[in-house]
Amino acid sequence: MKSILAAVAGFLFSHSFITSSHAVAISAGPSCGISAQDDSYFSVVGVQGAGIYPRQELRELENDSETWNLFIQAFARFQAMDQSEKLSYYQIAGIHGAPFGPWDNVKGEGLTGYCPHVSNLFGTWHRPYLALFEQILHDRAVEIAKEYPEGESRHRAEQAASKVRLPYWDWAIDPPNSTEGVMPASLRRPNATVRFPNGTSGEIPNPLLQYTFHPLHYDDFSALAEFQFKNWETTIRYPLDGYAVHATSRNDELNERIGAQQTNNRDFLYKILTMYQPFNEWSTKANGGKIGNMETLHDGVHNTFGLGHIGIVEVSAFDPVFWFHHCNIDRIMAIFQSRYPDTWVEDAIQRKATYTMPRNASQGPASPLAPFHMNAKGDMWTSTTSRNWTSFGYTYPELATNPSNDSLTLAINNLYKPATQGLNKNNTLATLNLDPNNRTADAVDWMAEVTMPSDIQITYSVRAFLGAPHVDPKNWPTDPNYVGQVASLSSPRMDSDVMVTANIVLTDKLAEKFKAGELKSLKKGDVAAYLKTEFHWRIQQVDLSEIPRTNPPHGLNVTVFCVPVHLPHSETEVPVWTGPFEYKPAIDGNPPDYDALPVPGAGSVNVTKPGEFNETSGGWNATSGGWSWNGTTLEGDE
Ligand SMILES: *[C@@H]1O[C@H](CO)[C@@H](O)[C@H](O)[C@H]1NC(C)=O
Ligand SMILES: *[C@@H]1O[C@H](CO)[C@@H](O)[C@H](O)[C@H]1NC(C)=O
Ligand SMILES: *[C@@H]1O[C@H](CO)[C@@H](O)[C@H](O)[C@H]1NC(C)=O
Ligand SMILES: *[C@@H]1O[C@H](CO)[C@@H](O)[C@H](O)[C@H]1NC(C)=O
Ligand SMILES: *[C@@H]1O[C@H](CO)[C@@H](O)[C@H](O)[C@H]1NC(C)=O
Ligand SMILES: *[C@@H]1O[C@H](CO)[C@@H](O)[C@H](O)[C@H]1NC(C)=O
Ligand SMILES: *[C@@H]1O[C@H](CO)[C@@H](O)[C@H](O)[C@H]1NC(C)=O
Ligand SMILES: *[C@@H]1O[C@H](CO)[C@@H](O)[C@H](O)[C@H]1NC(C)=O
Ligand SMILES: *[C@@H]1O[C@H](CO)[C@@H](O)[C@H](O)[C@H]1NC(C)=O
Ligand SMILES: *[C@@H]1O[C@H](CO)[C@@H](O)[C@H](O)[C@H]1NC(C)=O
Ligand SMILES: *[C@@H]1O[C@H](CO)[C@@H](O)[C@H](O)[C@H]1NC(C)=O
Ligand SMILES: *[C@@H]1O[C@H](CO)[C@@H](O)[C@H](O)[C@H]1NC(C)=O
Repeated sequence: MKSILAAVAGFLFSHSFITSSHAVAISAGPSCGISAQDDSYFSVVGVQGAGIYPRQELRELENDSETWNLFIQAFARFQAMDQSEKLSYYQIAGIHGAPFGPWDNVKGEGLTGYCPHVSNLFGTWHRPYLALFEQILHDRAVEIAKEYPEGESRHRAEQAASKVRLPYWDWAIDPPNSTEGVMPASLRRPNATVRFPNGTSGEIPNPLLQYTFHPLHYDDFSALAEFQFKNWETTIRYPLDGYAVHATSRNDELNERIGAQQTNNRDFLYKILTMYQPFNEWSTKANGGKIGNMETLHDGVHNTFGLGHIGIVEVSAFDPVFWFHHCNIDRIMAIFQSRYPDTWVEDAIQRKATYTMPRNASQGPASPLAPFHMNAKGDMWTSTTSRNWTSFGYTYPELATNPSNDSLTLAINNLYKPATQGLNKNNTLATLNLDPNNRTADAVDWMAEVTMPSDIQITYSVRAFLGAPHVDPKNWPTDPNYVGQVASLSSPRMDSDVMVTANIVLTDKLAEKFKAGELKSLKKGDVAAYLKTEFHWRIQQVDLSEIPRTNPPHGLNVTVFCVPVHLPHSETEVPVWTGPFEYKPAIDGNPPDYDALPVPGAGSVNVTKPGEFNETSGGWNATSGGWSWNGTTLEGDE
């Protein structure tokens, strides 16, 4: 990653939009249930009066040690705010889901947050949400800068504070330091070293590692009866047993796991950034897109965190990593907007209720993005008014200089171009088409098309392998034969009838198998024959248990296909699919013989057979072909 600071140095200007005094109505007191004393509304404006500055990738920001120092202290101070304050980290995170109360006097109902998922408003709703978070974070940084001694040191702190924005975590790029892995060390280390305003250095608990509830209110999370969030004093990532009262985070295992997912995330992202789809199909799994959509890519990253906070929609925003993940999603949306400026949110039926939007209502570009007010009068942000992200005082490195189409494509290619974009019958693995006259034969792109129900009461994924997967599902996410997944984020209280379609890209992994000598030729027929024996797919829940292929979620369908692809001639071009999809229904993905699995306790590995209902927690019910939770009456249950 190149530093873009130089590029934007001349770009900063004082910017005032809507209002420059944004602390309009900081009413104290809990927002849940009890009416606030102050009836005016909080103005979500992002960062105003400090120029339009780029949000940075976490690792890039850490390189700028002065800004990083203020950012870390500001993040810690934000988290330390009294949980009963309306602008506390706790209450801002609570907007997304639990504890299911009103924020900023916007009334609603049901055991659901304000956040629209499975919705045409999914991408745009999170934009003012992040701006609100960033606004408070920035305010904390400015406050801390004022504590430096007057003179040069305060001046420098104030300069650094003006640059504090929310950073993003790019989980799709090849990691700049492969030893460190895909998950930056700054998200995993227990302590952070900071230089305090008084000039001394010291260690503080790393605020990016977790949020520590202060205190934990059991009743705020007890409605999520199946889970242990009511008992966990901190946010938890990828616990070994997500149903355990005393669970601990496994950040290093998580890093390994997201590392095994990175190539597929990158290839998925590259496809959705370089192939046009109308915004409604592109942004969400609700509207029938066929190439892949931003929400499904986003779901897969949540899924990687297992049964910790990030894995469950209603509590995910409490984990600090939520904000860096969603910042990356917002950036992906801004890049898409820049590439395809003419497509935007259109009216669509809501397939799932939120706290303020009933199921089956139609919502469109002018619908309010509750509960985010743009001013004290109570006007609400909409998708239309959020369309230009610079209104909130930020931009992104790739967009800071208003790049031409060619420069933007070059940037996308530099960041995300797959190692191999198509296989040709000459057995060469070129990524560029070097014949300007198109005389050379075009290549073939291979994928597995996955169609699956979005909401089956639990987050789950379809995983693809080249070569047989390990006998124990717990090893699948990091199996050497693992290729990638299509995942759907869901929970007991998210019910919809949405079917989602997306692709798992196989081309890159097939090229690797070719280089390793396992696949002898790249000719179409030879690849198909290889896939017949070596392509496997399995269904796995977020708790790592398996859903049997003998009794899958209703309507789930995985079909391999190939499509002719025209490789680009230069780095300012992208590949183009040039013919129809050729489906290969004979490639059945090798359903396992469950009767031949080891008997639990007999061998060296213990394998829970798929479809076994676990009395303690719940599980897949092979009789009904659905997920059942133990001891819970669910809204979506029929
Ligand atoms: C951080 O700075 C070092 C030294 O200037 C450079 O080698 C490295 O690539 C930078 N890392 C990132 C992520 O920008
Ligand atoms: C790469 O990451 C490893 C492990 O986190 C670290 O020890 C090493 O210093 C890093 N290298 C660079 C050049 O930053
Ligand atoms: C983190 O900081 C605390 C307090 O300074 C210290 O006791 C602890 O040993 C540190 N942990 C690590 C892993 O450095
Ligand atoms: C400097 O500030 C830090 C954080 O507030 C504090 O822990 C430390 O004791 C202070 N050091 C001195 C020398 O005042
Ligand atoms: C059932 O779930 C509990 C809690 O997660 C776990 O400890 C136990 O091992 C599971 N039993 C089986 C048979 O999988
Ligand atoms: C977005 O707003 C900025 C000013 O904040 C303006 O310079 C820019 O042209 C706008 N972009 C679009 C696409 O309207
Ligand atoms: C080569 O083929 C691509 C895709 O069909 C097309 O876009 C491009 O214009 C062609 N170039 C030439 C020189 O014919
Ligand atoms: C394949 O090889 C033949 C013969 O060497 C050559 O004419 C043709 O252009 C090659 N095609 C590709 C796609 O490289
Ligand atoms: C599965 O998907 C393929 C590809 O879209 C389609 O041809 C086939 O009819 C589907 N099968 C079922 C049972 O829906
Ligand atoms: C498998 O399960 C049996 C019985 O529950 C237990 O005694 C054994 O230690 C387990 N083996 C492994 C490798 O976990
Ligand atoms: C369900 O869970 C409860 C505790 O949450 C436990 O007491 C009960 O035995 C479990 N099994 C069934 C079948 O209810
Ligand atoms: C599984 O489903 C069947 C049929 O719907 C039902 O009778 C049974 O009670 C379910 N079992 C569990 C453990 O939920």
